[in-house]
Amino acid sequence: MLETVVSGIRFSNPLLLASGIMDETADSMIRISKSGAGGIVTKSIGMEEREGYENPVVYELPNGLGLLNAMGLPNPGIENYKNEIKNALKGGVPVIGSIFGKDAGEFLYLSKRMEDYGVHAIELNLSCPHAKGYGMEIGVDENLVEEIVNEVKKSVNIPVWAKLTPNTHKIVDIAKAAEKADALVLINTVRGMAIDVDARVPVLKNVYGGLSGPCIKPIGVRAVYEVYRETQKEIVGVGGILNGRDALEYIMAGAKAVQIGTAIYYRGVGVFHEIASEMREWMKKNKVSKIKELVGIAQVR
Ligand SMILES: Cc1cc2nc3c(=O)[nH]c(=O)nc-3n(C[C@H](O)[C@H](O)[C@H](O)COP(=O)(O)O)c2cc1C
Repeated sequence: MLETVVSGIRFSNPLLLASGIMDETADSMIRISKSGAGGIVTKSIGMEEREGYENPVVYELPNGLGLLNAMGLPNPGIENYKNEIKNALKGGVPVIGSIFGKDAGEFLYLSKRMEDYGVHAIELNLSCPHAKGYGMEIGVDENLVEEIVNEVKKSVNIPVWAKLTPNTHKIVDIAKAAEKADALVLINTVRGMAIDVDARVPVLKNVYGGLSGPCIKPIGVRAVYEVYRETQKEIVGVGGILNGRDALEYIMAGAKAVQIGTAIYYRGVGVFHEIASEMREWMKKNKVSKIKELVGIAQVR
């Protein structure tokens, strides 16, 4: 009922773990695999070990709006990541290796290493909103996006997913620049900040951060809808999915699968099982036997 195929990879359900949440070590990735996720995306991994920014790096917005984070891409570095991938694969669900770099050369090197380690696909993080020289600084430039996607596609034999930023007015142009990618992942966090009024300073040490959770869902759904409409590419939707109806919204906009991050903070690791059963319940009630019947169904002709 919930089975889906993205870039030729079969997932038993369309609920994948989003990059950056409980996915740095094999142990936590296996825990999420056993909790009902259809697939896992790793923490974004770079050329060298990075500590990330000083605390505070995460702030919970009031009223259940979501989180604001500026982790600073902490990660163990690609050379130290082989065993984590090898062990994470024992979780029994497809593992997508997320990488970040400062130019095509770094992305190319990281992709090849990830491929050697045995991941099922690569996710290019072209969209982190707060790491200088990385992420969205590259991801808002069509020429750089095209160069990186094309170079990586030429050198690996596994599917390549490109994760794009919502922090641009030209998301469709950027999606078109990533034409050679096997799938697009929309969206990464939305650049934002918060101020502690009593202390009279920004809440995050890095000042700027990325918004995630319920407050960004309409931005994500719009991005998926717009890009699907203009490109017909395979899309993985992400941003603010908290329940089954949220996931269905993304699928009806045009996504074949979705990723879940901040919802784990609100609902715990059981969220994958729970969202899957909420989706099944809706489908039974509405006499839909296969999730693929719903992909892009809300597109207004
Ligand atoms: C604490 C935290 C760390 C994140 N780290 C990464 C990362 O390393 N790479 C990446 O591509 N996205 C990262 N993201 C973005 C998520 O993968 C996702 O795109 C975003 O949070 C929206 O989904 P959500 O609302 O379900 O959390 C991070 C998000 C959070 C909250």
